[in-house]
Amino acid sequence: MKNDVVLIIDFGSQVTQLIARRLRELNVYCEIHPFQKINDILTNKFSPKAIILSGGPASVIDDNSPKPPKIIFEMGIPILGICYGQQIMMKMLGGKVISGSGTSEFGKSFIKKVDAKIEFLEGWFEDNNVEQVWMSHGDHVSEIPNNFKVFAKSENAPFSIIGNLDKNFYAVQFHPEVIHTPNGKTLLKNFLKIAKVSLDWNMKAYREEAILKIRKTVGNNKVICALSGGVDSSVTAILINEAIGDQLTCIYVDNGLMRDKESEEVIALYTNHYKLNLIALNEQELFLSNLKGISDPEQKRKIIGKLFIDVFQKHALKLGNVKYLAQGTLYPDVIESVSFSGGPSVTIKSHHNVGGLPEKMDMKLIEPLRELFKDEVRILGKELGIPDEFIGRHPFPGPGLAIRCPGEITIEKLEILRKADAIYIEQIKKHDLYDKIWQAFAVILPVKTVGVMGDARTYDYVCALRAVTSIDGMTADYYPFTHEFLGETATKIINNVSGINRITYDITSKPPGTIEWE
Ligand code: XMP
Repeated sequence: MKNDVVLIIDFGSQVTQLIARRLRELNVYCEIHPFQKINDILTNKFSPKAIILSGGPASVIDDNSPKPPKIIFEMGIPILGICYGQQIMMKMLGGKVISGSGTSEFGKSFIKKVDAKIEFLEGWFEDNNVEQVWMSHGDHVSEIPNNFKVFAKSENAPFSIIGNLDKNFYAVQFHPEVIHTPNGKTLLKNFLKIAKVSLDWNMKAYREEAILKIRKTVGNNKVICALSGGVDSSVTAILINEAIGDQLTCIYVDNGLMRDKESEEVIALYTNHYKLNLIALNEQELFLSNLKGISDPEQKRKIIGKLFIDVFQKHALKLGNVKYLAQGTLYPDVIESVSFSGGPSVTIKSHHNVGGLPEKMDMKLIEPLRELFKDEVRILGKELGIPDEFIGRHPFPGPGLAIRCPGEITIEKLEILRKADAIYIEQIKKHDLYDKIWQAFAVILPVKTVGVMGDARTYDYVCALRAVTSIDGMTADYYPFTHEFLGETATKIINNVSGINRITYDITSKPPGTIEWE
């Protein structure tokens, strides 16, 4: 059975995938396609039940601004324009957009009801005349065509919600897909209801589609999968294993940057529990010698990414006929590593499983989780029958402890860090906090400070503790431990780990910080 499909036309917004994610949460199947490809797609017997135009970094005032093909407005299906999507819809349908010098809005904003008695606004403006939304615009619509009506306005966006009720075209200046528009999902749900889209998609369907796609892509070739023991690579491996069985070989590389006892645990799980084809390699010397003397975070990531690929390529050659390298890349890794549509989104970090890859590689990548967010991967993992304790593991980044050791990496520092991290995590588990926290870890700082222990002077490293709550890793808040917990943990670490004499707790949210320190 084929589900109804909603087409999301991407104009390069950083949050386009959040639209898709919200639709999946509402059990709707959707596909995102870049605006340049829409003509090809629509002629290929692809008939969406509705279209959503995403936001984007360009200005519709520029002559060369990205546009969807005109035909979409003649297909007789509901269309929702979001932010840039609203403005381009207006420009193409006879409205006007002006540059917002002095009238831009970024972040939290409130919009006022003008007229909310329409199906699209069911559940909005119920308790009062105001709704909180998240805006991110410089330009704004200044005139709407005759057949459009205004339903809500803000101080700097007089046409915050507009619509043509005959054609079921709706357009909003804000972003209903982000969590900072608390009631945003209701709006998307109303739109889907107007479009009569069936709400019957689920992770089981995702699993089936992904398996078919993998089989079609891979054919009779062999695949190697980079297994780190984290949730993402586990789900990737098990999904691909289900698709192609023993055409898959998994490779686990101990690069000397793993946590305490990590390698033993991971190898046991995959060989005893899953019986995957697993090659476990000890490449500590290779990685640590190449990282010697390197303290720049981007350089560290690039070196690690390249070495991983070298190792995988070497083993691919040995296995013979390996065409693909599978990785557990998730959507937040992609968005923070690449610029979309040549737009101005910047590279925050070169995630090793995305931007850190060398340009020339003999294998093609397969990334079956590339469109998903972490919590969705966990749902897929459950669907695949992966045990809860594995699915619930905190994320661990590809570059491992290298990015939790700012400055030069040494074996001495890594050993100190491993011990401190293990005590910290044990404390969190003992206090039953592990599942309440998205990710917790220790960082060893490249600073020594003076202390006093047993009447003697010490001069040792500072250890920072980090724990954050998050839904998808895109934004995060520090976890509010009690002072008792922090005090007890600090004492335990200092008493048991020689080389550390001071502990600090990181209370930065993301943004402005990132979760990892590098
Ligand atoms: P940041 O530090 O960018 O991290 O706020 C967001 C989430 O991504 C993880 N992370 C990585 N995962 N390769 C990965 O597989 C990487 O290079 C990488 N860098 C960060 C990080 O641990 C957090 O969960």
